[in-house]
Amino acid sequence: MSSEDLRVATIVGSVRNGRFGHHVGAWVDKQLSQASVDLDMIDLADLSFPDTMDAHPDAASFAERIGRADAVIVITPEYNHSFPGPLKTAIDTVRDEWRAKAVGFVSYGGMAGGLRAVEALRLVFAELHAVTVRDTVSLHNPWGPAADPEVEYPDQAAGEALRTMTRQLLWWASALRIARHVDPYPS
Ligand SMILES: Cc1cc2nc3c(=O)[nH]c(=O)nc-3n(C[C@H](O)[C@H](O)[C@H](O)COP(=O)(O)O)c2cc1C
Repeated sequence: MSSEDLRVATIVGSVRNGRFGHHVGAWVDKQLSQASVDLDMIDLADLSFPDTMDAHPDAASFAERIGRADAVIVITPEYNHSFPGPLKTAIDTVRDEWRAKAVGFVSYGGMAGGLRAVEALRLVFAELHAVTVRDTVSLHNPWGPAADPEVEYPDQAAGEALRTMTRQLLWWASALRIARHVDPYPS
């Protein structure tokens, strides 16, 4: 079994003009870049997905990147108590590559901090045979503090939550990588 660094893909799941999501993505990527992982930062705004399930270069490349990853961190806002449609399209473009992979979440939104989007995503990833990590990072009303240069945001508590989630994610990623190697996941 190779001892090479675990491969972690981060996905920024919001694509709309004026989105806040890329700030959250940049924060996550900066924190993760301090860990000994092979990081692949995927911004869905850089990709275009087909409105059919037909082959498409961006969809194929996205599937290949998920296939390479041992773990994925999905960064999602909450839209109407769920997650964005383009994120669902991207997830649905991939199938077997999700199997027996570890998936963690960083969410943001109003008072609920995007947690309803995360709970909706757990159902989707269960269907895809992925393993979602119990602990999450949720940012509540992050817009104001982020715009104030006097305020450190995400704050220390968010940073600690991200470290905890990442430790759990990497534990699962390592265990699942070994398990996939020893005995391929049954399809
Ligand atoms: C269509 C839409 C629906 C939203 N619904 C919710 C919601 O149900 N709960 C919530 O806390 N925030 C909601 N929000 C606020 C978003 O979480 C917030 O605008 C966030 O910044 C969106 O992420 P983005 O800027 O990266 O697109 C909604 C925003 C939009 C645009």
